Amino acid sequence: MTINVSSLAEAAVDVLTTAGPTQKVSKTYLYVAAWRNGEMSIGQCTPPDRPARPAAPRLCAPREMPKRSTGPKGRIALVHALAHIELNAVDLAWDIIARFTGDDMPSAFYDDWVTVADEEAKHFEALKTHLHSWNTAYGDLPAHDGLWEAAAVTAEALLARLALIPMTLEARGIDTTPHLVQRLRQAGDEETASILDMIYNDEINHLAVGVRWFEFLCARDQKPPTDQYKYLLERYFRGTPKGPFNIDARTEAGMTANYLAPWLET
Ligand SMILES: [Fe+2]
Ligand SMILES: [Fe+2]
Repeated sequence: MTINVSSLAEAAVDVLTTAGPTQKVSKTYLYVAAWRNGEMSIGQCTPPDRPARPAAPRLCAPREMPKRSTGPKGRIALVHALAHIELNAVDLAWDIIARFTGDDMPSAFYDDWVTVADEEAKHFEALKTHLHSWNTAYGDLPAHDGLWEAAAVTAEALLARLALIPMTLEARGIDTTPHLVQRLRQAGDEETASILDMIYNDEINHLAVGVRWFEFLCARDQKPPTDQYKYLLERYFRGTPKGPFNIDARTEAGMTANYLAPWLET
């Protein structure tokens, strides 16, 4: 595959407007390598409101979703749902790159999100390959339609995007994954457990990337980060962060318990 874009922003929009998951992933790897080789400037390009999606999976409301569990049947639904989340995460990483080029961010900001895009593509591929071992393809089951909502409501504000997506939704994954991995191991599914372990370790770094740039922007605007986080969640997030929180992993990522103080039980 050859590169026919001249900037990282154009590359991001190319990935976002590519519907096929296989192509989306291979374009991601191609552009990640090109960026790291210094072949592209940051540039500017308008991303689509929503990323292109393949015809399958059928997107549906949460109540229509197949039941997830760690039992034999529920595990296919679980891995399929996680693959869908990871494919969405590939688009989220490219969207943050393309959408906020006017925010005067340092080059290291783009380095970080390019790494996130690369890792999300690897997560999707690992889960997709694992589904194949169960004679299931990504797209065989319906998938959740609500994943782009938090991106849509924060399309105009980088600080809000960071508060909602890495620091709330990805952090939620970090809260819940260790227990899920434990249940999978108890059920004897070492293979799924080890893929989720790999994803978990990478996701701690994605949260760290989110916190780093959230605090960078707060420092630049001279705003207290924890107050800003609370304000942005109240303004943009439907619902409130729910525990139990994985305080150790969040702290390792730089998101100290102070951020959660408004929602921690006293
Ligand atoms: Fe991921
Ligand atoms: Fe992630």
